[in-house]
Amino acid sequence: MSEIGIKESENKIYGYDEELWYLVLRSQNKTGERDIGAIDRYLRTHSPGKEILDLGCGTGRISNMLAGMGYSVTGMDLSSRCIGEAKRLAQELGVSKNVTYIVGDYRELGPVSGKKFDAALCILAPAWKSIDEATSVFGNLALHMRDGAILLLRETVKERFLASLSAAPSVQSWFRVAGDILCLHAWHYYCMESRVTTTKEFYRRRGKDFEYIARVEQEYVLRSIADYSAALERAGWDVVEIANESVDLLEPEKYNDPWWLFSALIVAKLGGRRA
Ligand SMILES: C[S@@+](CC[C@H](N)C(=O)[O-])C[C@H]1O[C@@H](n2cnc3c(N)ncnc32)[C@H](O)[C@@H]1O
Repeated sequence: MSEIGIKESENKIYGYDEELWYLVLRSQNKTGERDIGAIDRYLRTHSPGKEILDLGCGTGRISNMLAGMGYSVTGMDLSSRCIGEAKRLAQELGVSKNVTYIVGDYRELGPVSGKKFDAALCILAPAWKSIDEATSVFGNLALHMRDGAILLLRETVKERFLASLSAAPSVQSWFRVAGDILCLHAWHYYCMESRVTTTKEFYRRRGKDFEYIARVEQEYVLRSIADYSAALERAGWDVVEIANESVDLLEPEKYNDPWWLFSALIVAKLGGRRA
């Protein structure tokens, strides 16, 4: 049993018990209007069509909004708990006819073979431990896309991390309340190795109190925009734009989690070259 008293899942996602992961993502489901507005803008500017693949769609925060805007969306996530919530939300929003949800590992994409997409989103959902692994994921993804298709990759990068750190040194520890979940978060940066360790404690609101549910310790190696650009180019994608406004995409005044600010949105287009 995990600390939240739920049967331990085989599917640990980023070191989180699947049930905890689901609670955290569900608490963020109503966030990111600007994020989604920006995604829509990039799709309208660069995508050759409206067939969208959302890699690591979580609880459908983005997929369902895009479905409501008339895109035809396929959302894929490892977590069946998250996919269940994404489907429920699609029903609630009346967008089910425009969105299909699949439980699966997007490094393989077997369940969508035979279909070609105009755009793929990978929004804070990395499934790689090294840049070589990222190259192979982007290369495999290219096989499921139409020529001229685009990838919107939003990922934590060293440049944004350092820029945020210089703007607000106090971000080294903070708390965040989203929905009924309180997260206490502290991190440490090891500059020689570009490594970050984080400790998060999660609490759930119980009446006027908060009840402790879990503690998660994690470690990341921060890659740079140049690392990701090189991986994309090696896999046949041309980087066409690095979004400048990524720092305020999530309305930090409403969404008190600087970790999300440490990311860049990279727009890449599939050219004639294939991996
Ligand atoms: C931080 S959440 C982001 C969810 C969504 N993109 C959003 O912005 O709201 C990352 C999601 O990626 C999913 N994920 C991670 N690795 C995956 C993989 N290999 N295949 C499918 N989903 C994956 C996790 O289960 C998680 O739901």
